[in-house]
Amino acid sequence: MSRPTVLQVGRFPARFNERLQRDYQLIRLWEQKDFIAEHGAEVDIVVTSARYGCSAEQLAQMPNLKAICSFGVGHDSIAVEEAKARGIPISTTPEVLNECVADTAIGLIIDTARQFAASDQHVRQGNWLKGQYPLTRKVSGKRLGIVGFGRIGKEIAKRAAGFDMDIRYHNRRPDPSADYGYEADLKALASWADFLVLACPGGASTHHLIDAEVLAALGAEGILVNISRGSVVDEPALVAALQAGTLGGAGLDVFEDEPRVPEALFAMPNVVLLPHVGSATEETRLAMENLVFDNLDAFIERGELITPL
Ligand code: 8YV
Repeated sequence: MSRPTVLQVGRFPARFNERLQRDYQLIRLWEQKDFIAEHGAEVDIVVTSARYGCSAEQLAQMPNLKAICSFGVGHDSIAVEEAKARGIPISTTPEVLNECVADTAIGLIIDTARQFAASDQHVRQGNWLKGQYPLTRKVSGKRLGIVGFGRIGKEIAKRAAGFDMDIRYHNRRPDPSADYGYEADLKALASWADFLVLACPGGASTHHLIDAEVLAALGAEGILVNISRGSVVDEPALVAALQAGTLGGAGLDVFEDEPRVPEALFAMPNVVLLPHVGSATEETRLAMENLVFDNLDAFIERGELITPL
């Protein structure tokens, strides 16, 4: 393909934006908001992210679109079925972010159970001078339930094994390669687990999978950790369970309506709130960027994506 027109849906960090601008015939959608409506037929390739996505409406306005290259592993914001029906391949950036996202899950388990974020506030606000921080919950040796046993779920299990945790997982189907017990019943997994970590994809199939009943099963000493998508959890039910004390705590990197986070959670010491930073390290973001460019170049040179969905 000679010099295809690449549409960049949203802003990335400067280095990524500049490389796109330098090396491709690029349209920046936020600078030319009506471009798709007026010139959609000119677009050959879309570069987007798990955050910006590519909607069915946008797709319909780009009749000559040939590929979508996305930054990130989540694809719930991309109209995958519509793209598939038109034979438009989609690439994401799998594998390279597994370690950082799994590290974040373990960090959230520890931070939430041991209340390190709130303990840090205790010191900074001068409260240590008035008294000791209350006792918290042990992490090592506990029961960990993992919801979604894909690439990231497996990395979480590997790390948790180092903390001598008893590990079980819930997935659409059992994984024959897994060394851990499979639990087909999510509620049963929640009532068994001390920590329930969500590592499943977002989208319609997992929407509000974690509802009031699952939260009740996890219980007053259980901790929910979410590094997948906010849509997997019924957020009002989560807030209600934390307020009522029927759930022990929550470590959350993702929310239903980012960047809006329920303010009711702000003052809770047993809740840790992160601004969707699971993959946000220099090393991993660079690897993700490079993988977007590798996909773009492979598609332009030989019509093939290297990490297709
Ligand atoms: C990024 C993510 O924050 O990969 C994903 O699905 O959610 C994160 O790695 C996201 O890609 C940025 O848009």
